[in-house]
Amino acid sequence: MCMGVSKDGRVAETDDILPDGYELKKGDGVYYISYAMGRMSHIWGDDAEDFKPERWLNDNGVFQPESPFKFIAFHAGPRICLGRDFSYRQMKIMTIALLHFFQFNLADKTRKVTYKTMFTLHIDGGLHLLAIPRTK
Ligand code: HEM
Repeated sequence: MCMGVSKDGRVAETDDILPDGYELKKGDGVYYISYAMGRMSHIWGDDAEDFKPERWLNDNGVFQPESPFKFIAFHAGPRICLGRDFSYRQMKIMTIALLHFFQFNLADKTRKVTYKTMFTLHIDGGLHLLAIPRTK
């Protein structure tokens, strides 16, 4: 399963001007750091760093998708990830199946969880869990 693309970019094939007026020369690279964009308060608000899944729900508790230009994990525009919907479905099916049968606890609650930034984002050393079967 994909871990998340933490940065992405493009190289200008010709001289160009970005929508904000910034001038690019042929061969210039333009990169965005989706990891950082996902934590920027001017994009997500002052609680950007808080784990708050309900930010994705509207007032009626219904899932409210964000613009892909804001939630940029799958890129946006004409070259947006073609596997995005497939990935969401796969993640939902796996989560439902696993949570139906197991409860998960952190194997070591004292260990600080940090990222290992590579082209895709991994948890440094992995996230070790204890899977406890749910009894009926
Ligand atoms: C959580 C999982 C995934 C993430 C975060 C992800 C993210 C991305 C990103 C950021 C791009 C843009 C790359 C670029 O053009 O610079 C991309 C492109 C693409 N992804 Fe994914 N992807 C995921 C899973 C998948 C899966 C499962 C498939 C196929 C079944 C897939 C197929 C593609 C394809 C074909 C493109 C190229 C689209 C194009 O250039 O027109 N991706 N993905």
